[in-house]
Amino acid sequence: MMSAKYRHNGGLAKTAFDLFCGSGSVTAALKTMGFRVAAAVDNNLVCARTYRANHPDTHFFASDIRKLEPWHMRRSLPPNQQLDLLIVCAPCQPFSNQNRFRSSDDDRLDLVLSAVKFIQYFRPTTVIFENVPGIEKSDSMAKLLRRLRALGYLFSKPEKLDAADFGVPQRRLRCLLVASKDKKVIQRTSKLGTYAEHRVTVRDALQGVPSLSSGEKSPTDRLHLAREHSALNLERLRHIPKDGGNRHSLPEHLVLECHKKLGAASKFPDVYGRMAWDDVAPTLTTGCTDLTRGRYAHPEDDRAITLREAARIQTFPDTYEFHGNHSQIATQIGNAVPMNMMVNVIRRLEL
Ligand SMILES: C[S@@+](CC[C@H](N)C(=O)[O-])C[C@H]1O[C@@H](n2cnc3c(N)ncnc32)[C@H](O)[C@@H]1O
Repeated sequence: MMSAKYRHNGGLAKTAFDLFCGSGSVTAALKTMGFRVAAAVDNNLVCARTYRANHPDTHFFASDIRKLEPWHMRRSLPPNQQLDLLIVCAPCQPFSNQNRFRSSDDDRLDLVLSAVKFIQYFRPTTVIFENVPGIEKSDSMAKLLRRLRALGYLFSKPEKLDAADFGVPQRRLRCLLVASKDKKVIQRTSKLGTYAEHRVTVRDALQGVPSLSSGEKSPTDRLHLAREHSALNLERLRHIPKDGGNRHSLPEHLVLECHKKLGAASKFPDVYGRMAWDDVAPTLTTGCTDLTRGRYAHPEDDRAITLREAARIQTFPDTYEFHGNHSQIATQIGNAVPMNMMVNVIRRLEL
């Protein structure tokens, strides 16, 4: 018997596949919206452990997507069932402006195109591609659009969206491309960017998360463990004003040599900065618990945010089970598509 919690489409639950699923944030969002996520793919074995722990009913393929043939996934769908939705969140590093080592030789550039064989084989009603702004100008995007057109899909203009407009306490610019066989879905893409939602802030996100000192850990929450900072970094943190301050308040003797050389022209103005309680957080990356990687200091405590705080800012529920060591969990959290963003995308597209 199909569970009543799934939405029904002619008697069958709406079904989705999640390509490049990571730790499963998108899958969690789809399940919240009533989809049955029949299959998911990722080649990272630590993500696989997290994914399987949280989504034991999904057929997980721990494989390089380039080596996986679509017919391997056929048995994940009941016979004659249409695939309603395919989600493709290919790695964004090759297209990201934050990637200092971006190169046209990066073999991940064309990973997004590996979704095409699945589209050709399963002919899903709708496909959502999620990536970073920058992808829309790439050769990969041009090739992708040509292939989608050849397969008879209609598609939206790639939309640049901010997760902060989707109930996520974080400024996170993403590029969404929606392809569909259903004209109405494409028409609704114009609604994606126009909703004025109440902004969820850092204060809302960190509600009830206990204050910690550098090096301290919660006795009850394995993810709430503060990094131990050096005496010098603690001294720096003491000079950074609470609630949104930045490293420009540091006295001369505490300014890093590399920042002295770069002066005001620094490309990384946020490092060592604090988050502000009543604003959204900056974009979390895989280095989201490291002061030297961005504005990742707690608004008030003299320390970087913990994995629990990062998970809250990415809108993971506290019940989500993460596997791996500290840096592997930070990678899973930083790479995730915030669950609330995807819930609201599905809602606005009325899928
Ligand atoms: C942007 S993250 C996806 C995030 C995920 N959708 C989520 O919400 O957590 C990209 C994912 O692609 C995976 N990946 C990278 N190269 C891959 C490949 N060749 N085959 C399969 N997965 C790959 C990475 O392990 C990573 O989890």
